[in-house]
Amino acid sequence: MKVYDNDIAEILFNRDEIKERINELGVQITADYNGEEVFVVSILRGSMLFVADLVRKMDLPVIMDTMAVSSYYDGTETSGKVKINKDLESSITGKNVLIVEDIVDTGITLKFLLEMLKVRGAKSIKICSFLSKPSRRKTAVDIDYIGFDIEDYFVVGYGLDYNQKYRNYPHLGRLKEENIKGLGNVKRSSNCFRFWWSI
Ligand code: IMP
Ligand code: MG
Repeated sequence: MKVYDNDIAEILFNRDEIKERINELGVQITADYNGEEVFVVSILRGSMLFVADLVRKMDLPVIMDTMAVSSYYDGTETSGKVKINKDLESSITGKNVLIVEDIVDTGITLKFLLEMLKVRGAKSIKICSFLSKPSRRKTAVDIDYIGFDIEDYFVVGYGLDYNQKYRNYPHLGRLKEENIKGLGNVKRSSNCFRFWWSI
């Protein structure tokens, strides 16, 4: 995509590789749920493209709902404070919930989400994340389905953003360091920023 090509250092997974991996995840999820209905909870906004492709590969009855959350970054790391900007619209009581995320980084957002949803009486709760950065984990989270494990790079595209940009880049790309001026390296290097990072 010409508009972003100069900002991307490297394509980690192109659109065909992403499609192929999602086909595999779809087969696995379809087999695991064995015909049962799945209540898919898509975490906005990063998982929008992933969830759209994933549910079309799940040969199961699917209900879809969305949640939006923000992580509060304080200095170099997320402080662990997470707030809900948009809650689910329907009840998950008795449902097989599948949380669909774009990326699990420190794991703090997901841990918070899990704790919040666990008390709502779901029949089961599983997690499917397009990406995982295991080396960045601050809290252990069990991810049932992972698209790809990646190194500690800041990545964009296929729904993932940097300052709300690049979500429509069709591949998963590593952003060039010189383009990471604000949020991306604030997480790692500055200690004078305090902000809610909307994910
Ligand atoms: P966690 O609470 O540290 O696991 O934060 C996960 C959230 O941080 C994700 O849902 C993303 O919105 C964001 N994030 C973490 N790493 C990246 C990245 O490399 N690119 C884009 N967003 C990221
Ligand atoms: Mg996200």
